Amino acid sequence: MNAQTKLSWAGLTVAGLAVGTTMALSQESQQDAHIAIANPAELSKDEARNHYRALRKQMDRGYATAHLDQLINYQNWPLFNDAPYISATHGQRYVNSYANRMAHNYGTLGSDEKLPVGSVLAKDSMTVTDEGNVHPGALFVMEKLPDGSSPETADWRYIMVMPDGSLFGDTKGDRPGAVVYCHDCHEAVAERDYTFFVPEEYRVGN
Ligand code: HEC
Repeated sequence: MNAQTKLSWAGLTVAGLAVGTTMALSQESQQDAHIAIANPAELSKDEARNHYRALRKQMDRGYATAHLDQLINYQNWPLFNDAPYISATHGQRYVNSYANRMAHNYGTLGSDEKLPVGSVLAKDSMTVTDEGNVHPGALFVMEKLPDGSSPETADWRYIMVMPDGSLFGDTKGDRPGAVVYCHDCHEAVAERDYTFFVPEEYRVGN
């Protein structure tokens, strides 16, 4: 990780907390108004894996009702983290980072290298509060479109799917305005084709 990336990470933590809170609120108000994610539980890697194991089928079924073909069987794609980890920038939820086979260089991207058209990155999420409430969270998706399809987002399509399969927003579909902020933040890592990758301590093989 170069110095510039490190700096943007540090800056993002602050910005991310604000965004995370707003997202958590809008998400919870659709789901269960009295559960807030102000206090995510601190889980060991094993505890996080166990919660995810118990929830993953239910999560897959929920997201699948969005009928997004590019997400079919995403839980069978290569997984780049060794346990779910808290993402301050995605609503303080425990997340996973999957990438489809087209995105073969997601883990090794060098400076100014690009992911191939057709790459799909899927980050599912679950909420675990310190009172022990556990439930599915949103699914965050990035899809690499053909050159020139979306110049304002460097040809990345951003989609956020709610746990019940309803669409929060899609930069190339319904409610694009709800997800424009995704690229604003991902722009910080333009030199890595707008992907941040997994925090070091959660990378597979570490
Ligand atoms: C405030 C900054 C911020 C915002 C806003 C944000 N992200 Fe991210 N995103 C990150 C960071 C940091 C990571 C890597 C760490 C992690 O997993 O949390 C990431 C990772 C991802 C990944 C895995 C690919 C990668 O970058 O390595 C996807 C997919 C993703 N975000 C989708 C979205 C979508 C969709 C939205 C909007 C609904 C969104 N993000 C909004 C900061 C942000």
